[in-house]
Amino acid sequence: MCGIFGCIARNAKAAPIIHAALKRLEYRGYDSVGIATIHKGKIYIKKDSGKIDDVHKLLNLDDMPGSLGIGHTRWATHGAPYQANAHPHTDCKGEIAVVHNGIIENFSELRNELEDLGHKFKSKTDTEVIPHLIEENMKKSLGLVESVREALKAVRGSYAIAVISSREPDKIVCARMESPLILGIGENAVYCASDVPAFLPLTNKAVVLENEEIAIIRPDGYEIRRITDWSLVERKLETIEWTAEMAEKQGYPHFMLKEIHEQPQCLRNTLRLQDKYLDLMATFLDRAQEIFLVAAGTSYHACLAASYMFSKIAYLAAHPVIASEFIEQEGMAVNINSTILAVSQSGETADTLEAVEYARLRAATILGLTNVVGSTLTRISRVYVVQQSGPEIGVAATKTFTSQLSVLAQLALRVAKIRGKVGHRQMEEIEKKMMEIPDIVERTIKENEEKAKKVAKKLKDKKIFFFLGRGISSATAMEARLKLMEITYIPAIAYPAGESKHGPISLIEPGLPVVFICPRDETRKTIVGNIMEMKARGAMIISVIEKGDEEIKKLSDEYFEIPGSLPEILSPIAFIIPLQLLAYYIAVEKGLDPDKPRNLAKSVTVK
Ligand code: AGP
Repeated sequence: MCGIFGCIARNAKAAPIIHAALKRLEYRGYDSVGIATIHKGKIYIKKDSGKIDDVHKLLNLDDMPGSLGIGHTRWATHGAPYQANAHPHTDCKGEIAVVHNGIIENFSELRNELEDLGHKFKSKTDTEVIPHLIEENMKKSLGLVESVREALKAVRGSYAIAVISSREPDKIVCARMESPLILGIGENAVYCASDVPAFLPLTNKAVVLENEEIAIIRPDGYEIRRITDWSLVERKLETIEWTAEMAEKQGYPHFMLKEIHEQPQCLRNTLRLQDKYLDLMATFLDRAQEIFLVAAGTSYHACLAASYMFSKIAYLAAHPVIASEFIEQEGMAVNINSTILAVSQSGETADTLEAVEYARLRAATILGLTNVVGSTLTRISRVYVVQQSGPEIGVAATKTFTSQLSVLAQLALRVAKIRGKVGHRQMEEIEKKMMEIPDIVERTIKENEEKAKKVAKKLKDKKIFFFLGRGISSATAMEARLKLMEITYIPAIAYPAGESKHGPISLIEPGLPVVFICPRDETRKTIVGNIMEMKARGAMIISVIEKGDEEIKKLSDEYFEIPGSLPEILSPIAFIIPLQLLAYYIAVEKGLDPDKPRNLAKSVTVK
């Protein structure tokens, strides 16, 4: 997730306006920043890797001529945060500049075609194909607007772009596909931005662009057209009533809730990862003699789930190990035949990095899954995959967890194919459901949020919770427990449901809430027995079930329904959603701040 901004100011320099706007978009990405302006038929560009304030100190982003310009603050997805990879990106002659938020899926093939036509690339990014596509179109005597339109017809993926050209210095052309883009209409300027906070101090009059729409911004106004049929779009001006702080959260009261709602888009992004890196990592996993999945906290729960994924469809043993225990538990056994897949959304967790460094010194192969390009984990991994969730501001991991699960499931499926362990039908079923997951998660949020608010009111004063699941759902139970504990401060216990009778069931008293995760998989029949055991002792049964599971519904005091059936290995992605919402709304009911829970940090960089 990056932040883009553009402005045409009638009687002011654009650069200072753009710089201030990018500062207000910094929560969308902060590993590099750049601005391009046009003045007297020439494009000026200042960009570098680093935080906005640091780059400004170095380059003075305000000191750029021209009243028209674009800017970008980056969350790297393709290409590490180096100066060359910072936006804006230009064509060969430096007459076109582009900023982009999104993922161009087919950029490799487009780049090859453009290089065959003689185009020279300067970065490793997917974005850079766009200015060269536009340049190629303008060579055919198309105008800037038409050239942008034709370029966008050639790309596949998501985008919010803003384009300027010294050949048509009186306009900004911007367009949207999935990544947000909104126009701000001021008294003396017109803006385009990824998000309202960028221009809210300047105007609260806004027009939202929809998918496959292009907007042409000029000093005297704007027009919006559909990319497909070029029809004119008439859309009413909206007045934004948000405060600046609310705008940063897109109107949500907390980043955590915003990030819960971002999960469908993040999951779509994980389905656009570059095959070559997933295939490369799958090859390493397939050839590994022994695999340890090493992580902390929520990322460990993703590893726990992944161990079931790899085992069940790829017949591959992958051992999940808590990072802070790795050296004690497995250290002496690690050797050149060991493969470590470290999972860390920050890529900076000290426990995880210490475990990885220990294994690396014992000649183990290091693989990494992270959300941050350029993080330490990416630098010490032989192969790494970036999950592209965008910055996660809330301390409690939500969107990064479900994205990790999606990537790990994709890896498990690739290993299963390499090993010939998955049949035609099973492969097609999993791949089909994988593509459906973002929509299933979207519906799960929509259909369960009100229920979560209601149940939260009912349970907010409970003194302890149980979370139980069997099979891969035991990982979901562990994650649900952590979510509840870390933001509501209510103690909770999570166990594989089969363990209850080996001790924990002694804690059950009438009214104690026990949450069961019950997908319709092989474990369902035994989980019904566990529910009966708890019910017989007076527990309050809260279940997460597949829509229409009447039997468990009847046994439950409260239930959350997941729309649609899912293959076992994908179930945690959807089944965690109602419990993220429940934890969030209990915290809110208790008057706590879910974004900043006591004693916790977003990235635990100390051991
Ligand atoms: C989860 O909600 C917590 N924020 C915490 O457990 C976190 O998952 C853990 O610290 C690991 O962080 P990482 O993924 O950045 O390594």
